[in-house]
Amino acid sequence: MQVLKKDANYQSYYSKDDFSLYLGDCIEILNSMPENFVDMIFADPPYFLSNGSFTCHAGRRVSVKKGNWDLGGGASANFDFHIEWLKACKRVLKQNGTIWISGTYHSIYQCGTALEINNYHILNDIAWFKPNAAPNLSCRFFTASHETLIWARKDKKGKHTFNYNLMRNGDWAEDSLKKEGLQMRSVWSIPTPKQSEKKFGKHPTQKPFNLLRRIILASTKEKDIILDPFAGSSTTGLAAVLNGRHFIGIDNEKSYLDLSIKRFENLKQTDEETALNKLFYKKANRLKLK
Ligand SMILES: C[S@@+](CC[C@H](N)C(=O)[O-])C[C@H]1O[C@@H](n2cnc3c(N)ncnc32)[C@H](O)[C@@H]1O
Repeated sequence: MQVLKKDANYQSYYSKDDFSLYLGDCIEILNSMPENFVDMIFADPPYFLSNGSFTCHAGRRVSVKKGNWDLGGGASANFDFHIEWLKACKRVLKQNGTIWISGTYHSIYQCGTALEINNYHILNDIAWFKPNAAPNLSCRFFTASHETLIWARKDKKGKHTFNYNLMRNGDWAEDSLKKEGLQMRSVWSIPTPKQSEKKFGKHPTQKPFNLLRRIILASTKEKDIILDPFAGSSTTGLAAVLNGRHFIGIDNEKSYLDLSIKRFENLKQTDEETALNKLFYKKANRLKLK
């Protein structure tokens, strides 16, 4: 899928079937794309929490430095960044399009205000509860065990997609809080990524496949175009193509796009994970038609 203007400086880094990746700064790349062509954006921007402190990983004390991209430049510069990338996203979104943003308290309040400054219309905030969150080492605070996701529409008057039946009646076995046959609520219990999701290498802030699958099935239709401006290991892309959607991912770290490609190319192998996802997709399609 070639989506950039003919005179754009950016060519895709990788493009196969419904999966395209662009290497570079997301604001520059988004500004070189056409207007109003994307149905949904999932954005997992830097949380800017790499501050020299420590956390617990697999029982060991490790630095929270995720990478230079997560250092930030202070509250004011971070806020300006959130305003700018959200502005660039709004330009490419269709009138009825929606955006999801994930974050913790380090970033999510700034992102919420930046959404309002850009005149998006907030639809929900979701508390993503991680039942297997790492313990707190200092024992001086509560253990951080959730992230917040904001879901917003480009335009106040837009008509966004919400697959209500599927959310209510789908098979959400991974979520101990979801009661069968009842409405999907705004607190989701989903474990952090499984080891099998990291078999091609690790991204320090990789999102679980099941989280992205739910977001995509809730808020898009088959063949929709989904864009992720901070793609990382492209969890969004895998969930998109496995559910019959198109994917465009952007990241400014080549190694993360290379990891994304390995994950995407593995989808052609019919391992247990992929087979399960295909089954889920068929069932989801039946429910949507009810
Ligand atoms: C929080 S991580 C996203 C992880 C992803 N959701 C996943 O499941 O793997 C944020 C990503 O944004 C990328 N990034 C940071 N600043 C960027 C920028 N200005 N343009 C494009 N990518 C950027 C980083 O390289 C990093 O991979």
